[in-house]
Amino acid sequence: MRGMLSLFRRIEVFDDTYLPENFLHRDREMEELMACIKPLEHGIQGYNALLHGRPATGKTTAVQKVFQQIEESSSRIRCVYVNVALKPSAWGTLAEACLRLTGQNALPDKGTGVIHLVDSIFRKLSKKRNSLVLCLDEFTSMPTKELQTVVAPFLRPWEFSAVSREVKTSIILVSSSLQSPRFRSAVVSSLCPRWIEFKPYSAEQMHDILKVRAEAGFGPRVVSDEALWLLATAAKDLRHAIRLLRLAGEIAESRGTKVGVDDVEKAFERLPDSHVASMRLSEAERRILDEIQSRGSMRSGEIYSFSERELGLKRTRTRQILASMIRKGILNSETVNHRGLTKVFTVARGWKSC
Ligand SMILES: Nc1ncnc2c1ncn2[C@@H]1O[C@H](COP(=O)(O)OP(=O)(O)OP(=O)(O)O)[C@@H](O)[C@H]1O
Ligand SMILES: [Mg+2]
Repeated sequence: MRGMLSLFRRIEVFDDTYLPENFLHRDREMEELMACIKPLEHGIQGYNALLHGRPATGKTTAVQKVFQQIEESSSRIRCVYVNVALKPSAWGTLAEACLRLTGQNALPDKGTGVIHLVDSIFRKLSKKRNSLVLCLDEFTSMPTKELQTVVAPFLRPWEFSAVSREVKTSIILVSSSLQSPRFRSAVVSSLCPRWIEFKPYSAEQMHDILKVRAEAGFGPRVVSDEALWLLATAAKDLRHAIRLLRLAGEIAESRGTKVGVDDVEKAFERLPDSHVASMRLSEAERRILDEIQSRGSMRSGEIYSFSERELGLKRTRTRQILASMIRKGILNSETVNHRGLTKVFTVARGWKSC
């Protein structure tokens, strides 16, 4: 239990299970996903979708937000979410879907066959004249054959049984890799998903999201803008940044201060993503590195202009990024006289980004 004087206002907003109230910079993706499901409202088959993008780009959150909106606005559409990585078999996934649909607590008997599970799902839907949106998150964790067993009946419900003939469906597959499963051709032909790409967040987008999260968790002006920029540009991804933000809050709390750059730096020391990740480049570092590499060398002034124009970063933040890349041995710098003393940056020989 945190005391009255805790820095945190709502620590739960840093939890992995927290569904953000403001889901920033993902309007297009949400609209595309919604468009796949909308036909179900009019009693016609929906589109299938394949959501893909690097980890922590908001794929699962987008599905959860869209499902929340649909459940609030339509009583005809049932949304079922299963994380396949946690149930990587056809039986496990369908049993979980069954549970979610019926609201029961006990798993079906282990002896219940897969076909029987599909049949129970269709019976439930048909009885209430409901349509189904089935989301299979992290679907690549399941062997293709098993996955095929799960999706095939929902791709052509009218062919499965007399009960399911009128049931309309839409399947949402989610993955952080672009590896496509090798389904048999009939499945490929019926699946034909709309691809929705979740691009990595830019440093500015990360900063916006973290600012809103920091205000929800701590209240306004508790975390300095410098600290937010450091998180936005140096964390491995948004999930890492949110964890670091919480830890920085705990460090600042123990010192009795607000959250500043020092606290974030300490958090980085205590929560490196992994040994390799500590050498992995953030989005801003990579963009600056690419620019220097393509030009051969750049003066500090040129880098500041590039960084402000292309990444929206202030000079202080860019200076921190350059210093960090020199510390990591990625960049070399040399002081030269060019209308006064200035630094020239080049990419260190032998550097390969990981
Ligand atoms: N646009 C956003 N606005 C606010 N928070 C976000 C946004 N995008 C992601 N998040 C937060 O980032 C974290 C990771 O998001 P999410 O789990 O949706 O990513 P993912 O793409 O499903 O990742 P993975 O591929 O690893 O499963 C969550 O805490 C989520 O709340
Ligand atoms: Mg996810």
